[in-house]
Amino acid sequence: MNSHRAGVVCGTGRAHGKAILLGEHTVVHGTPAIAFPLPTLAVHAVAQPGGSGASTGVPQAGRQFRFVAGADRVPDDPSSGPRVAVEEALRRWEIRERVEVVLDCDLPPARGLGSSAACAGAAVRAVADLYDRTVGTAALYELVQCGEQFAHGRASGVDASTALATGPIWFHAGTARPLAVGLDAALVIADTGAASATQPAVAAVREQLARDPQGAQRILHHAEELIESAAADLAAGLAAPLGRTLLEFQDLLRELGVSTPEIDALVTAALHAGAYGAKLTGAGRGGCVLALTEPGSAAARVSAALRRAGAVQTWIVPTHGMPS
Ligand code: MEV
Repeated sequence: MNSHRAGVVCGTGRAHGKAILLGEHTVVHGTPAIAFPLPTLAVHAVAQPGGSGASTGVPQAGRQFRFVAGADRVPDDPSSGPRVAVEEALRRWEIRERVEVVLDCDLPPARGLGSSAACAGAAVRAVADLYDRTVGTAALYELVQCGEQFAHGRASGVDASTALATGPIWFHAGTARPLAVGLDAALVIADTGAASATQPAVAAVREQLARDPQGAQRILHHAEELIESAAADLAAGLAAPLGRTLLEFQDLLRELGVSTPEIDALVTAALHAGAYGAKLTGAGRGGCVLALTEPGSAAARVSAALRRAGAVQTWIVPTHGMPS
């Protein structure tokens, strides 16, 4: 329901970040992926008619980012993804006026936590709210994907799906389904502090796989086995084997060239502090590490160890209690 702010009608929307448990990069080449929404790392958007001028600010945690859609040419820059999603929504809904969107972002951009999909999801929801449009999840996903394709090239859709999901998902070939989780554990997410650019990372992996088709087949087949066994362990509540699977997947990601010494150091620190397993999450070459731990004090211990090892920020996310 749209509302009024200072006498102006406005619409509001919200979406959240995501953490890929397993399947980043290989999902672009046909494997499934498993991802968790991060409901506490949210983006809030406010849309109102009118507005002029260029975007102000850049997507940044704790800062406002503003753009006007329906006006000029969209700048060819990955941070324009959310605006592209809104432009497409305005085109589909035959709305021919300018719309100003202001985004408040809790999650850091370019850290593999799905900030561009969350910004696009929140922005489209706010514009839908402003014009009283009902958008189903499938239509919303398509619009967010328009922004993601613009921002990241050939995006698999896992970020868009998870930004809109209310619980963990199994994502395969453009379709998401809720994933059963019987595991009472925690994911500790640690930010290396280094930016992770999705488009060049995806392009580099694609080139590597194309150069060595046999190696590619082996890696993708192994990835698929690991993702399937992780889903079974999640459902059965088996933390220790799931942790080993994360480490094996991290080996594959290292082979694909997207790990870094900083990521490897955080993985090692998490294991020394008692994590079941750890790996990078998202596009890599910077960004975040995700560790699987027992909940409670064990997770707090791993989080503290990750900070001592150089993480600039950490978050603890329960695997349990989210609707699936
Ligand atoms: C980025 O969050 C995940 C990647 O697999 C890209 C994609 O799936 O589109 C690296």
